[in-house]
Amino acid sequence: MKFFIDTANLDEIQEAFDLGVLDGVTTNPSLMAKEGITGEDNVRNHYKAICDIVDNNVSAEVIATDFDNIVSEGRELAKIDDKIVVKIPMIRDGVKAIKALSSEGIRINCTLIFSAGQAILAAKAGASYVSPFIGRLDDIATDGLALIEQIVGIYQNYGYETEVLAASVRHTMHLIQCAEIGADVATCPLNVITGLLKHPLTDIGLEKFLADHKKANS
Ligand code: E4P
Repeated sequence: MKFFIDTANLDEIQEAFDLGVLDGVTTNPSLMAKEGITGEDNVRNHYKAICDIVDNNVSAEVIATDFDNIVSEGRELAKIDDKIVVKIPMIRDGVKAIKALSSEGIRINCTLIFSAGQAILAAKAGASYVSPFIGRLDDIATDGLALIEQIVGIYQNYGYETEVLAASVRHTMHLIQCAEIGADVATCPLNVITGLLKHPLTDIGLEKFLADHKKANS
């Protein structure tokens, strides 16, 4: 399973990259706003700065919601760097734009996926990734992981190459369960990735090893 980090914070992206397990980055307009990135030039420069840190797969979301403007904005975002994946929302004009842009060879991450039907549409339109938001489904007492499992099964039935990118991942159990059910990618905050490191028996075990080594060598 690929690990993407879900942030526009350059320090966090660098920290995850330095850990050696990062496969990409997802951003969205809320995450860019959180970092205080405003204005077309600053947004472009920020995406470029992210691309300069990681090896591939930097999702950059369009703001436009009508076909013509999604397509032109998507083309502009894709020109920033070969690592850019244009993120397009699951709306009617978005589906049309996914078809148009993917036909030009631009990789698309279709975002705001909340049903299997939406995931089928995005795959048929040619999206490289679909992003079902599992945390937001859990928030409304709907099983987000069950949706991931359903989409993985449907894509397997038909050999769709679209990758299932579990988004809105809130904790380490989400991440592990995504791996269990075969999500291709999970995008999550830095603390969820580093949360996988933690086990008290590891800390206790290491302390004992080091103490024994010190005793034997003193
Ligand atoms: C990623 O592509 C999504 O934008 C993100 O995971 C949404 O997460 P949230 O529900 O925690 O805002």
